[in-house]
Amino acid sequence: MVEAVLLVGGKGSRLRPLTVTTPKPMLPVAGVPCTEHQIARAREAGVTRVVLGTSYKAEVFSEYFGDGSRFGVELVYAPEDVPLGTGGAIRHVAEHLQSGPDDPVLVLNGDILSGHDIAGQLKQWYADGADVSLYLTRVEDPRAYGLVPTAPDGRVLEFLEKPESLEQCTTDQINAGCYVFRRSIIDEIPAGRPVSVERETFPELLARGARLTGFVDPGYWLDLGTPLAFVKGSSDLVLGHAPSPALPGRVGEALVVPGAEVAWDAHLSGGTFVGAGATVGSGAIVVGSALFDGAVIAAGAVVRGSVIGRGAIIGSGAVLDGVVVGDRAVVGPGNELTRGARVWPGVALGDTAVRFSSDR
Ligand code: GDD
Ligand code: MG
Repeated sequence: MVEAVLLVGGKGSRLRPLTVTTPKPMLPVAGVPCTEHQIARAREAGVTRVVLGTSYKAEVFSEYFGDGSRFGVELVYAPEDVPLGTGGAIRHVAEHLQSGPDDPVLVLNGDILSGHDIAGQLKQWYADGADVSLYLTRVEDPRAYGLVPTAPDGRVLEFLEKPESLEQCTTDQINAGCYVFRRSIIDEIPAGRPVSVERETFPELLARGARLTGFVDPGYWLDLGTPLAFVKGSSDLVLGHAPSPALPGRVGEALVVPGAEVAWDAHLSGGTFVGAGATVGSGAIVVGSALFDGAVIAAGAVVRGSVIGRGAIIGSGAVLDGVVVGDRAVVGPGNELTRGARVWPGVALGDTAVRFSSDR
C-alpha cells in the first residue's frame, strides 16, 4: 500500500472570480478537477489511499469525491479549522496515515499538472535511502518558485523559496511540488501551528544534515496558479501534451463533451474544451479556451485563451483574449475584452464596446 497526501487548502486568490465558489483544485481543467487528474495519475503509480488536506471550502471536495471508491482509491479527509500552511497541513494529515515510520508517503501540491514519473520517483526514494525526495523541474523564470540546486549525486544543496532578487537565482531548477517523505519525518513537523514546508521544514532538515534528494524529470509540468496557466493546462490536456487517465474524451484540437452544442460552422481549436450543456453559435471562433458547463458563446464571437465560467454568456460578435469570465456573468454583444480582464459573477457588461487594461 502506498499513501498519498494532496495539499488542497489554498484559496487560489489569483484565480478569482472562479475561486469564489470553487476551490482552485476543484476547478475543472479539461472538464475534470485538478485533484481528479492527480488521483488518477497517483493511482496509476500504485497509490491506493489518498488523504486530502483541506481548508478553504472543504465540503466541495467531500461532496464530489466521497469515499473515493468511484475513483479507485480509498479517500480520507483532514480538514483544518484554520489554514496551517503547506508544512502544517502535511503534519495535520499525519493522524490519518496508516504507513509505518520508514514507509514512503507521496505528497503533492494540489495545483500542479505533471507528466512526471511518479513510480520512478518512489523507486528512486528507496534507492537513495532518502528522508525526502523532491521532484524538480527547470523553468525559464524561477523567481515565483522554490529554488533547489543539487549536487551531481542528486543531493539537495539548498532550498530557497521565492527569492527576492535576481542575484539569488543561482539555478533554474525548481521545486515542482511533489515529494516523497519518509513517514517519520512528517511526524517531526511541529503540530498545531502554521508551518511552511518550503520556508521552514526543508531548510531545517538540510541544516541538520537530513538526506534530501532531487528527482529531476523533464516531463510535462505546470502550476495552475494563474488564469493564463489555468487555460494553458486545460488546453494542454485536450491537446494531449499533459497526460491524464482522467481526461473525459479523446485528445485533439478540441474536446466537446456529450450534451454540448456546437454550430457546424463554428471553429474550435488549440485544445478548446466545451463542457456539458455549453453552446457555441454560428461562425464563432474559440481558440485554446475552456468553456465550463452551460457557457454560451453567441454567433460570431471570438474567444481566445480564456476561461468562461458556468452558465456565463458571451454576446454575439464579442472579442475576448486572455479573459476570465465568472460563473453566470454576461458579456454583451460587441464587447472587446483584452488580456487580464475579469468579469465577476452576476455582472453584465452592456452592448457598448469596452476595453480593459491588462493587470498582468
Ligand atoms: N491544506 C492546506 N492548508 N493546503 C494549503 C495551504 C494551507 O494552509 N496553503 C497552501 N496550500 C496548498 C495549495 O492549495 C496548493 O495546492 C499548495 O499547497 C501550494 O500552494 P500555492 O499557494 O499554490 O504555492 P505556490 O504555487 O506559490 O508555491 C508552491 O508550489 C511551487 C510549485 O508549483 C511551493 O511549493 C514552491 O516551492 C513550488 O515551486
Ligand atoms: Mg501553486
